[in-house]
Amino acid sequence: MYSFDYYNPTHISFGEGKIAELDNLVAKDAKVLVLFGGRSAEKTGTLAEVKAALGQREIVEFGGIEANPTYETLMQAVEIVKQQKIDFLLAVGGGSVIDGTKFVAAAALFEGEPWDILLSWGAKVTQAMPFGTVLTLPATGSEMNSASVVTRKEYQAKLSFMSDHVYPKFSVLDPSKTFTLPERQVANGVVDAFIHITEQYLTYPVNAAVQDRFAEGLLQTLIELGPKALSEPKNVDVRANLMWVATMALSGVIGRGVPHDWATHMIGHELTALYDIDHARTIAIVLPGMLDCRREGKQEKLLQYAERVWGLTQGTNDEIIDAAIAKTRGFFEAMGIKTRLSDYGLDASSIDKVIEQLEAHGMTALGEKQDVDLAMSRKILERNL
Ligand code: NZQ
Ligand code: ZN
Repeated sequence: MYSFDYYNPTHISFGEGKIAELDNLVAKDAKVLVLFGGRSAEKTGTLAEVKAALGQREIVEFGGIEANPTYETLMQAVEIVKQQKIDFLLAVGGGSVIDGTKFVAAAALFEGEPWDILLSWGAKVTQAMPFGTVLTLPATGSEMNSASVVTRKEYQAKLSFMSDHVYPKFSVLDPSKTFTLPERQVANGVVDAFIHITEQYLTYPVNAAVQDRFAEGLLQTLIELGPKALSEPKNVDVRANLMWVATMALSGVIGRGVPHDWATHMIGHELTALYDIDHARTIAIVLPGMLDCRREGKQEKLLQYAERVWGLTQGTNDEIIDAAIAKTRGFFEAMGIKTRLSDYGLDASSIDKVIEQLEAHGMTALGEKQDVDLAMSRKILERNL
């Protein structure tokens, strides 16, 4: 196992009714900007519940943060923070609202052009405003990590940043708040969490037994409970477990001391920026071809994954790996998520655009061994046409 530091300061308040805890989690004299997305937070009543819990505190609202939050919208929130002298941010929503809030938290105190936060991958962030979150969509893990992904529409660029300054102070996770999710978002969440785990697990072995077993347990939990979340949509135990899996998948705990991949995500981000396909769907398109094309470098972990997660042991190594990839694709499809570019109306010409954008964004040496160059990215996408 590699040496590592593990730091995660986010306070988690988990369970039904926990939104009431906001009264204890937010300072009594805070002036709070409550940030949310389109209509869901209002429609489901979660926004009203949050406001009730905040009681007498002074509140300003900022709605309209899009799925795949944009720099253009978020900069309007930054203006409000400055004008209204806001001192605490509260995100109410899924990964997009939380990521957007992280950007606002950093941009409000940033000297210079805030797009540099993204261009520097967060390295230029030296401070950020404090913020908390109320999670309504389990998927990204943003509620307990230091990452954020922001799109700049005018450049068709979707870039991410990380900084220890943007860990949420707290996150409220009430599984019953996910009952209102449409099936499509439930499925997206399961598949996104699944691929967060594979990005940190399906690389090469470094004798990290704890991280491996934990990752395998999380994957098996998703395989077991993902379909149940669709067939038993009011089962709160299923929702609670999925919510916690998604948080654990990207809170750092399985990712410390091991190599990381993330090539699937980087290619997926380009597909979202260009073709507006949901984040989880883009990575479900990319992953099967990614594993297929990189089976040599990933052989040992792919065989471990096949055996421990899917119980596959019969046949040659290549046959076992083929079967594990087929199972993975089959799981995504069973969740209702199509896994080929053609399923989204894209043909070979779309691949040229993706490759151009990867090059423009410097994504030319991806993966745990930095061996995913543009030619390899093209091959991977062609495998998933
Ligand atoms: O906009 P509203 O009306 O609120 O509707 C949202 C949105 O349309 C809806 N929704 C959320 N909670 C709901 C609900 N509808 C009904 N009931 C509820 N309880 O769901 C839609 C999708 O929401 P969004 O926040 O976009 O989804 P998700 O949580 O999947 O976040 C995706 C974003 O996170 C980024 C992605 O790139 C993408 O931009 N990621 C962030 C990561 C991180 N910070 O670590 C890692 C991920 O890999 C990912 O890249
Ligand atoms: Zn993701």
